[in-house]
Amino acid sequence: MAHAIDLSGQDILTYLKTHEHKDLLRFITCGSVDDGKSTLIGRLLYESKLVYEDQLAALNADSRKHGTQGEELDLALLVDGLAAEREQGITIDVAYRFFSTEKRKFIVADTPGHEQYTRNMVTGASTADLAVILIDARKGVLTQTRRHSYIVSLLGIRHVVLAVNKMDAVGYSQATFDSIVADYRKFAQQIGLADITCIPMSALKGENITDRSQAMPWHAGPSLMEHLESVQITDEYRGLPFRLPVQWVNRPNQDFRGFAGQIASGQVSVGDRIRTLPSGQEARVARIVTQDGDLPQAVAGQSITLTLDREIDISRGDLIVPVTDPAAVADQFEATVIWMHEDAMLPGRQYLLKIGTRTLTATIGIPRHKVNVNTLEQLAARQLELNEIGVCNVSLDRPIAFDPYRENRETGGFILIDKLSNDTVGAGLLDFALRRADNIHWQALDVNRAARSQLKGQRACALWFTGLSGSGKSTIANLVEKRLHALGRHTYLLDGDNVRHGLNKDLGFTDADRVENIRRVAEVSRLMVDAGLIVLVSFISPFRSERRMARDLLEQGEFVEIFIDTPLAEAEKRDPKGLYKKARAGSLPNFTGIDSPYEAPEHAEITIRTTETSPEAAAELIINELDKAGIIAYAYNNPLAGL
Ligand code: ADX
Repeated sequence: MAHAIDLSGQDILTYLKTHEHKDLLRFITCGSVDDGKSTLIGRLLYESKLVYEDQLAALNADSRKHGTQGEELDLALLVDGLAAEREQGITIDVAYRFFSTEKRKFIVADTPGHEQYTRNMVTGASTADLAVILIDARKGVLTQTRRHSYIVSLLGIRHVVLAVNKMDAVGYSQATFDSIVADYRKFAQQIGLADITCIPMSALKGENITDRSQAMPWHAGPSLMEHLESVQITDEYRGLPFRLPVQWVNRPNQDFRGFAGQIASGQVSVGDRIRTLPSGQEARVARIVTQDGDLPQAVAGQSITLTLDREIDISRGDLIVPVTDPAAVADQFEATVIWMHEDAMLPGRQYLLKIGTRTLTATIGIPRHKVNVNTLEQLAARQLELNEIGVCNVSLDRPIAFDPYRENRETGGFILIDKLSNDTVGAGLLDFALRRADNIHWQALDVNRAARSQLKGQRACALWFTGLSGSGKSTIANLVEKRLHALGRHTYLLDGDNVRHGLNKDLGFTDADRVENIRRVAEVSRLMVDAGLIVLVSFISPFRSERRMARDLLEQGEFVEIFIDTPLAEAEKRDPKGLYKKARAGSLPNFTGIDSPYEAPEHAEITIRTTETSPEAAAELIINELDKAGIIAYAYNNPLAGL
């Protein structure tokens, strides 16, 4: 029986409400156009005279904006997995089609098979309950079949349909079907796919799509639609431990304090003892408040507000769990990272990591290995390029509550966001916590930064000089240090060329090495500021992201960014070390400004235009600025100065 509706405007809401009682199966189709994927989807929709829906995502965003909360739950189901990406404005080529039959509602994610397959497939698969893997009966199991299946297993999709299509082209041969199935099962076992249903079909002729095929009476199993309608999926999330990521704290007045969110997994009842993570405080559930009044119990997928029997500190991003089955808490992990951006993942760079309702700063280590998705071979890697999948250590700036992804997709999956552009650049699955951090604690020291600075009669800070090679950074930094020294300040100058002879002599000039170069020098300058010094740092430091990281390591006002602004043409004309000449001649690759980028500061505290200002005048100007900022004046006011 068909359910055709006009999907414009209010109709869809009415429609969803009518069908609310039916459960929902989200599935993904994997295959290329050649396998007959479009024909298959077209056939599914056509045979059931079903509903096309491509605009539901936009509609959902609208309905949230307009606060039509009654429908929110059902609509949210359609796009939740993508909400984060959509907020980040990533354009992912995944079409979501919505349809329903008497028994079920369906959302099918249709991901094109072109070279963006990994990114698209991961996006489409992240919320799917089932994957339909298409095979052309004439070709059998191909590299792409293995690739699709690997991603399906990686993302924890439990149910797989092996759709052996184009059976009409092989004379509906049972032997052909059986041999493909045997091949596939052997491979599926290696990657741990368990529930596989194999269906011979012809999307073109409509065999075994909705009705059972007359042409293949030897097939005893269901048609594709029969299987999609009957496969058991509903209780998977309900059976897991209770997890409520806190979306917001609802405090309309003094008397009410509730913690709102959508239940990620499990169920909760009034009276249950809960714990909030990462803080670890405990309480009992007093009320479960919903749009439709109070409930005695709520389950995965429902949006609720919990109130508790006592006041405990809970804020947005916390995870509420049962005392009896809590999640783990850690700040370092091994994770599988799937890179989704044209700019490579650079180990050591800081990214934002969004998990559940929480956003933190993450640093990703050098991959332990990357996986060739076609052969499943593990390969050495220094970074991850677009569509690559690698296993890496991830460390966070604060601990989070989590479950390993293979145990709970909702609380073990994350996305990575570029800090400056705000683009979604990757996705990841938490494998396990690294315990090594557990045994390293902060040692409390009595002599602290303030005490050390005070003894030196100065305010410690980092003067960070950035600019092209040959811009004059080192010359000016040297003059500034001499002036400070003459004023009795305690200083140290970290110069790119010099540090690269020692601490950083293992690093070259690739983007990844420059990131690591600046990460180390930023850590060293933090230690020096901690030691009470005025540290002058003179490195090209071409990327905004790492200069920002260096800034974030220090307190407000302790990081002074000084942009030595020399146009490329001028630096090249000066060419003090003859490096531009070499770079232009092609004998010095990755040279900043020539074939490696320089991202000029947007908000430097001090900018020196060296075409207009001599090095001496520049040093004078910087000293004056530091004086104004109270960095030098401190000494003048210090009664001990001059003793
Ligand atoms: S950074 O980009 O990683 O910050 P850093 O300041 O340490 O660079 O080192 C830059 C110095 O290395 C330059 O002043 C120059 O003398 C030298 N150098 C050698 N090769 C390159 C290159 N490919 N690009 C830029 N500088 C280079």
